[in-house]
Amino acid sequence: MFTMDELSREIAGCTKCRLHLNRTNTVPGEGNPSARVMFIGEAPGADEDKQGRPFVGKAGQLLDKALNALDFNREKNFYICNICKCRPENNRTPADDEAEACLPFLRNQVALVKPKIIVCLGATSLKYIIDKQARITSVRGTWFERKGYYITATFHPAALFRDESKKRLFWEDLKKVKEKYDEIISFEQKKNL
Ligand code: URA
Repeated sequence: MFTMDELSREIAGCTKCRLHLNRTNTVPGEGNPSARVMFIGEAPGADEDKQGRPFVGKAGQLLDKALNALDFNREKNFYICNICKCRPENNRTPADDEAEACLPFLRNQVALVKPKIIVCLGATSLKYIIDKQARITSVRGTWFERKGYYITATFHPAALFRDESKKRLFWEDLKKVKEKYDEIISFEQKKNL
């Protein structure tokens, strides 16, 4: 079993798929390494590739703003990462073999963080975490319980720039995540009394 630092070093040296050829930096993930909530996106974009940090561009800033309004922040309450740790050129959707090559890193991250809640951001994350056939419009905001994790999905924050009407639904979904989080925290506190 890796530590998070060892895993990040492993990711930095990865050449398992073609995405390593064009990367500036790998983008392993960041946040509280023992958070109850883990957000999982698709793959780094240009800003993330430049900085080696997830969700730091326009979409990430929008996500942070929404989450901060719910009193969630990266240092304290959540861990955030992607299905793929390297940027696909022109921000194309990662190919199946690229995602499959990267998934063992994500499995290790989940095993290390041990979140109670996993939130898939967008269709790619939904596809590899919940169900290959699922549609974001039909499963968003609903909960799946698997292997002791509460798993849900919502729109990728970048989709909100393309379709403003998704903003309200996105916000509703995030509020459900916060409600579930509060339930878990209060259950844990009662258990420890
Ligand atoms: N989009 C993603 O899916 N992940 C990032 O880190 C940035 C943009």
